Amino acid sequence: MPLMNWTPELDIGVEAMNHEHRQILDAMNDVFDADAAGVSGPAMMAKIGKLADVTTRHFVDEERFMDQVGFPGREAHKSMHAKLLTDFGRHAKAAEAAGGKPSREFFQFLMLWLSAHIKHIDRKYGDHANAATGARAA
Ligand SMILES: [Fe+2]
Ligand SMILES: [Fe+2]
Repeated sequence: MPLMNWTPELDIGVEAMNHEHRQILDAMNDVFDADAAGVSGPAMMAKIGKLADVTTRHFVDEERFMDQVGFPGREAHKSMHAKLLTDFGRHAKAAEAAGGKPSREFFQFLMLWLSAHIKHIDRKYGDHANAATGARAA
């Protein structure tokens, strides 16, 4: 059973960003499923590393997109990304120290981050971009 499924509420109206959000969701579910299957150690840390990579890349792309569409809240949004990466790093370190076993708090953080950040924070630049163009951005 995955940690989280894609739902229509996660659609922020910008296809390129929806696509990256799905990649993050897949990488999260991969960590979750592997943990449920008893995977730990370096194999688990590799999956957590993959999740860190897709997330970091997404933040770079998303921040560039917000700059391109002139989203007014982009500086505050960038600060949130920086905080998320710091928190993620802390959880990843704790998982490593525990022998490649992510904690329950790590999964709670991932789930909360994905649902709350995408549905409420990312949506704002999506709405801004679509209001500016009068259509869904590609
Ligand atoms: Fe974001
Ligand atoms: Fe995002």
